[in-house]
Amino acid sequence: MTAQVTIVDHPVIQHKLTLMRRRKTSTQKFRALLKEISMLLAYEVTRDLPLTLRTIETPLQSMEAPVLEGKKVVLVAILRAGIGIIDGMLEVLPSARVGHVGLYRDPETLQAVEYFFKLPGNLRDRQLIVVDPMLATGHSAVAAVTRIKAEQPGSLKFVCLLAAPEGIEHFQECHPDVPVFTAAVDEHLNDHGYILPGLGDAGDRIFGTK
Ligand code: URA
Repeated sequence: MTAQVTIVDHPVIQHKLTLMRRRKTSTQKFRALLKEISMLLAYEVTRDLPLTLRTIETPLQSMEAPVLEGKKVVLVAILRAGIGIIDGMLEVLPSARVGHVGLYRDPETLQAVEYFFKLPGNLRDRQLIVVDPMLATGHSAVAAVTRIKAEQPGSLKFVCLLAAPEGIEHFQECHPDVPVFTAAVDEHLNDHGYILPGLGDAGDRIFGTK
C-alpha cells in the first residue's frame, strides 16, 4: 500500500507560500503567513472527520444537526519547527490536544534519539495529525511517526508545508499507511539536506534565530 500524497494547491495557499519563500520576508510576517497557511491545511486535512447527528434547538424548532464525532483530534508537533504550525491549526480545531516529539540524530550511530516525547494518554480512539513544515530527507518525520505508532493511535496523518521528492519517497517507503498533505513539492535536496528552491531553515525563520 502506498499512502496518498495530497498537494493542497489552493491559489491562496500558493500565494502565501511564495511570500514565505522570499528571503526578505521578516520573521513576523513569516510566522503570520505560516499561521494562515496552517489554518487552511487544517481545513483540508480534517475534511474526512466523521460526523454524528445531535438533536439541537434552533430558535424556531428542533433538528438533527451534524457535530464532530468521537474524541478530540491530537496535533503532534515535531520539534522545533512543527510548533510554528500548531497555532494556525488550533484556530480551526480549538479543542484539539497537542503533543510534542523531539528527536535528534546521533552523529556517530546516525540513529534518531528521542529527547522529548509528550502525548495525551490512550490514543487508541484518537485521530493524530503530525506536523513539521519541511519534509526534506524525511528522516525525522519517519522516526517521529515510528515512535508515535508505538502508542497505537486510532489514525495518523502527516502535514507539512513543503516537501522534497526524496523525503516523500522515503516517508512512503517507511510509512505507506500514513497519508501526507503538503502545500508544494519542490525540486530536490541540496548536499546539506535543504529543500531547493525551498524557503531556507524553517525553524530559524519562525523563531528568528539565524
Ligand atoms: N529543514 C528546513 O528547515 N529547511 C529545509 O530546506 C530542509 C530541512
